[in-house]
Amino acid sequence: KHVAVLMGGLSSERPVSLSSGNACAEALEGVGYRVTRVDVGRDVAKVLGELRPDVAFNALHGPFGEDGTVQGVLEYLQIPYTHSGVLASALAMDKAQAKIVASAAGVPVAEARVMSRFEIGQEHPIAPPYVVKPVREGSSFGVVIVREDMAHPPQSLVSSDWRYGDTVMVERYVGGRELTCGVMGDQVLGVTEIVPQGHSFYDYDSKYVAGGSLHVLPAEISPKIYQRIQSLALKAHEAIGCRGVSRSDFRYDDRLSEDGDLIWLEVNTQPGMTPTSLVPEMAAHVGMSFGELVRWMVEDASC
Ligand code: DAL
Ligand code: MG
Repeated sequence: KHVAVLMGGLSSERPVSLSSGNACAEALEGVGYRVTRVDVGRDVAKVLGELRPDVAFNALHGPFGEDGTVQGVLEYLQIPYTHSGVLASALAMDKAQAKIVASAAGVPVAEARVMSRFEIGQEHPIAPPYVVKPVREGSSFGVVIVREDMAHPPQSLVSSDWRYGDTVMVERYVGGRELTCGVMGDQVLGVTEIVPQGHSFYDYDSKYVAGGSLHVLPAEISPKIYQRIQSLALKAHEAIGCRGVSRSDFRYDDRLSEDGDLIWLEVNTQPGMTPTSLVPEMAAHVGMSFGELVRWMVEDASC
């Protein structure tokens, strides 16, 4: 099979995607596919129309790669592609809409308000602590945690450097632990705890700078909570209509009780795919190599 690996793209997560894409391309060659690396620009429809690969391996992250738009181009060209389709991608890319759908299926979420970043003035929109997130971003770009002792909302929101869209979600902050769980088709993978090292939360640098975070897999939580997270990850994947591989992120505050406060944050329909990323680690934990994982994804592709 001839596989076109789509990488790079137009979003803030371009460097992450180049890293995912190169790792996947190398692994696909390693398991015997003919691979073309496609650095995705505005001409992607023309490039793919000429290339006509058997499968498009989507290694893009963020707007234009993870939000249903490139998936629409692939549907139009009738090229089978990996990961979620148009609707699930568009839904999952919008953190606020995804929460409405997941919550209707019984997945617990933190209360939130969606607003324009310009509406947030000098007064806190909700009582701190809270988190402000661009609704349509990934890799923690633009995320700010507002602690109890902060007098004003973050001023970065109205700065002219802000590049993350004007709609933001103001969400109740759940302290405690960061957990994540992968899904592969109808199979749920393990639960990893992410412990940022020397960062106040799992921000961009703690995600991608070596040693920025510690991954504990399987997470050291009670079997009951472990299974609950797995079943919620699967439920969110199904409710949103995801396909192939996805990864759901959670917050779990067990400081007051073991049942604690467990909430689902979002599903990533294009989770990071570098060899040290979370999903490849979860696959390795169940005995699946990186090569086997990318082969499964190619064979699962459809349009
Ligand atoms: N948005 C990054 C790539 C992730 O979720 O893994
Ligand atoms: Mg994300």
